[in-house]
Amino acid sequence: MVKLIGFKKVKTAVFVSGKGSNLKSLIKFSKTRKSPISIDLIISDNYKAEGLKYSKLNKIKKKVFNFKKKYKVENKILHILKNYDIRLICLAGFMKILSKNFLIKFKGKILNIHPSLLPKYKGLNTHKRALDNNEKYSGCTVHFVNSKLDSGKIILQKKVKIKKNETKSSLAKKILAQEHKLYPKAILNIFNL
Ligand code: GRF
Repeated sequence: MVKLIGFKKVKTAVFVSGKGSNLKSLIKFSKTRKSPISIDLIISDNYKAEGLKYSKLNKIKKKVFNFKKKYKVENKILHILKNYDIRLICLAGFMKILSKNFLIKFKGKILNIHPSLLPKYKGLNTHKRALDNNEKYSGCTVHFVNSKLDSGKIILQKKVKIKKNETKSSLAKKILAQEHKLYPKAILNIFNL
């Protein structure tokens, strides 16, 4: 459980690499009265990430980093997170794997959303693999991040039914719509709200 200090919202950074639809939904949620978090920083490894547009639209600071020298960059990011007094990190379509050194500094304070019913289909191409295996259900999971890919403690999951004529893109669309609801719910959940 992440503790709320007084009535102040917990400063949160969202890490994105792509479209940022989960970032958009988290920003919307953060502005509601019931939200225990505020989004104060957007971090990306991709200068072209579409999601970066939500920085300007919502007046949230953004920082983009080239992850080639990962260790160095992560230390830079840790420094910035400290300056912004960030207490929670939400990974939302962030395509880089954070090192143990980084994870230790934010132990129990990094969340991720994954488009499958973990522990099934860790990693990439989840929808294709679920369809190839004739699964009846798939879904999405919000979990804490640990040093093993998509393996941290599960916070919440949402199941969706796979139809007979389901395609990769129809399934992705259906699951993404659920992700946008699940991530805020999982955040309420970790604050015991
Ligand atoms: C989502 O499906 C998320 O589960 C996965 O990457 C996708 C990101 O989508 N980790 P978006 O950038 O939030 O639109």
